[in-house]
Amino acid sequence: MIGADQTIPRKPRRRAMNKHSKKFQFDKIIRKTVQSLRQLYIPLSEYDKLDARFGSILEQRRADEADGVAFQARSIMLVGPSGSGKTTAVRYLKHKYRHALATDPEKEFCEFVDLQVPSPATMKFVGAATLRALGYPYAGNKQGPAIWDQVKVQLKLRRTLFLGFDEAQDLARYQTEKERQSVVNTLKSLMENSVWPVGLLLSGMPDLKKIVNQDAQLARRVDPIEFKRLHAVRDVEHVIKIVQRYADRAQIDVDASVRNEAFAMRLIHAADYQFGLLAEIVVLAVSHALFTEGFEAKLGIRHFAEVYSERNGAEAWMNVFIAEDYGRINPRKLLDDGDGPEDGEDA
Ligand SMILES: Nc1ncnc2c1ncn2[C@@H]1O[C@H](COP(=O)(O)OP(=O)(O)OP(=O)(O)O)[C@@H](O)[C@H]1O
Ligand SMILES: [Mg+2]
Repeated sequence: MIGADQTIPRKPRRRAMNKHSKKFQFDKIIRKTVQSLRQLYIPLSEYDKLDARFGSILEQRRADEADGVAFQARSIMLVGPSGSGKTTAVRYLKHKYRHALATDPEKEFCEFVDLQVPSPATMKFVGAATLRALGYPYAGNKQGPAIWDQVKVQLKLRRTLFLGFDEAQDLARYQTEKERQSVVNTLKSLMENSVWPVGLLLSGMPDLKKIVNQDAQLARRVDPIEFKRLHAVRDVEHVIKIVQRYADRAQIDVDASVRNEAFAMRLIHAADYQFGLLAEIVVLAVSHALFTEGFEAKLGIRHFAEVYSERNGAEAWMNVFIAEDYGRINPRKLLDDGDGPEDGEDA
């Protein structure tokens, strides 16, 4: 039995960041600077494509409207792995078009309505969620088709031109073939509606492609945009510049440890080759430098290593910014047990 004065030996704490006091955490100017880091959006080529497609669909729609001709709705599918930056890209797009489009859901007309696909994504649930996003008080006991009829009425009343579904890969999850087809038919019917056709902005993980491609008529009306994985060699220059850009915004210097290709490759690996995750890690590292050392900080690989261990609960040998053979580390794996490889675990 363990007596009162005996303590069970504890594992040493892993959180390296705890060693560093966040002296500047409550400094007003530092906090403002960190907020502005979070707000920085770096447009990627995928975003430029999205913007161009969206802009031309909108232009066409406005021209059709002015000429009084029947609208032809086209849709966009934005696909990429988790953390690639899909949700952020759509948010930024909406922000960019806030003067060209009515986007305020509180107003009578809302030309761009978006929502996250609910779970489970039955036609009934998705219809109800869409009605709610359109600001319509949904009464709850209608069947799927009746709900969607109501959605179409609301889309017209609110003059909605674009309907955004985020996490749209879930539309096909756990569905039978028949249900999948009814999802596809519903999406098509929104676009083909002769009274008020609506363009869709579907964003989601790569499985979304399967839903769209299963129907040739749907696929023909949807323009796909796919987020590419970062490339460990081709993208290093760009990554080094991005780190510098965030440091410049924070008005801190960077040291040589983060101004080289080897570091950029580690960073790309830590982000699992996804741009959004990479930006997120850089924001965390720069914020950490600011919170612990203020504007005197010199951003170095150490800040990245500390943030990585805080976020993933990783010991040094599992830390992508410290381990020599970091290529074997799966950066998506959180809170690894932390018993070194000598304990018999597979690395
Ligand atoms: N272009 C960008 N510039 C700066 N930060 C970005 C950019 N794109 C994404 N981010 C950041 O990356 C993180 C992940 O992005 P986001 O949530 O958009 O990814 P996602 O593709 O929607 O992932 P999921 O499939 O998991 O929903 C966010 O914290 C976001 O702030
Ligand atoms: Mg998302």
